[in-house]
Amino acid sequence: MTHEIAVIPGDGIGQEVIPAAVEVLEALDIDFEFVEADAGDAVLEETGEALPQETYDLAASADATLFGAAGDSAADVILPLREAVGSFVNIRPAKAYPGIDAVRPETDLVFLRENTEGVYAGLEDRLTQDVSTLTRVVTESASETLAEFACDYVSDADDHDGFTIVHKANVMRETDGLFRDTVKSVADDRGVDTDEVLMDAFATRVCLEPEQFDVVACPNLAGDVLSDLAAGLVGGLGLLPSANVGPERALFEPVHGTAPDIAGEGIANPAATIISAAMLLEYLGYEDESERVNEAVEVTLEEGPRTADLGGDASTEDVPEAIIERL
Ligand code: NAI
Ligand code: MG
Repeated sequence: MTHEIAVIPGDGIGQEVIPAAVEVLEALDIDFEFVEADAGDAVLEETGEALPQETYDLAASADATLFGAAGDSAADVILPLREAVGSFVNIRPAKAYPGIDAVRPETDLVFLRENTEGVYAGLEDRLTQDVSTLTRVVTESASETLAEFACDYVSDADDHDGFTIVHKANVMRETDGLFRDTVKSVADDRGVDTDEVLMDAFATRVCLEPEQFDVVACPNLAGDVLSDLAAGLVGGLGLLPSANVGPERALFEPVHGTAPDIAGEGIANPAATIISAAMLLEYLGYEDESERVNEAVEVTLEEGPRTADLGGDASTEDVPEAIIERL
């Protein structure tokens, strides 16, 4: 069976790391059809649209999408693209790798971030010159969907017992209260263990004792911020992959942006994008291939070649080459 993969490199180092990941996918014996499309600042300048309709339609119909990054137009690209794939959860693993200089080498976390609402629902107003407001939306249905996903996630693998609910329901009683109560009640019904940590306390505890946490379910903004914090614990943005999963399709992207300071030099670290591609493989049911890619990435991170962000002098292109040799 052929799988159609939408490939959207975007701007900056997206143009460098996406070809590296596609190269790795092409080295596997899988019947993929890659279809490339534009998004981001460059196409905005050319056509007046950061996300052309044909790119949106492609993501909405492909079996999976691999996205790089967009520059200043990022919000106009990634939010609609997540919507195109119907994504309700953003999965962000933050894991320290052997041999990589990490602030907290014992970190091995997965954030399951609600991906549709909260303060990112787009309900902002400028009331007067000096007053602006934001409406925070939390629904029982989106909280339930996230909770069901979290329960499936921890039940499908044997190395998790339960998950942690991160929230701030002591202050945002209605919104995070609904989130917390709904997630807890779904987990209780499913017989899945949960514990709870307030999001500010979590920020401190994850820095001091990351090994206390495993799978973390949280509202949209908390997931965005806390997962970037975790990136800092494991050695930087060049290593963090993510998956935006919906009921029928999904979009995979590195957590980082276009890195304008190094774009065009051929030295960007493609690891985050290649690990995102491994998540794509797992999502499409190619578990063995996904594991092979992850293992080859791990060996390559430990033994090199490494890019400059990890203290090496390899080029972006050297990395997929070494990974493919080790597959
Ligand atoms: P950034 O992630 O692009 O870069 C932050 C720092 O990390 C830079 O020093 C960069 O060189 C380094 N870095 C990031 N990825 C790297 C990699 N793969 N290898 C080596 N070093 C890497 O974040 P920044 O600078 O805040 O944003 C730059 C642009 O990217 C902005 O226009 C922003 O809007 C956009 N952006 C887009 C995102 C998306 O499309 N999903 C996400 C975040 C930012
Ligand atoms: Mg972010």
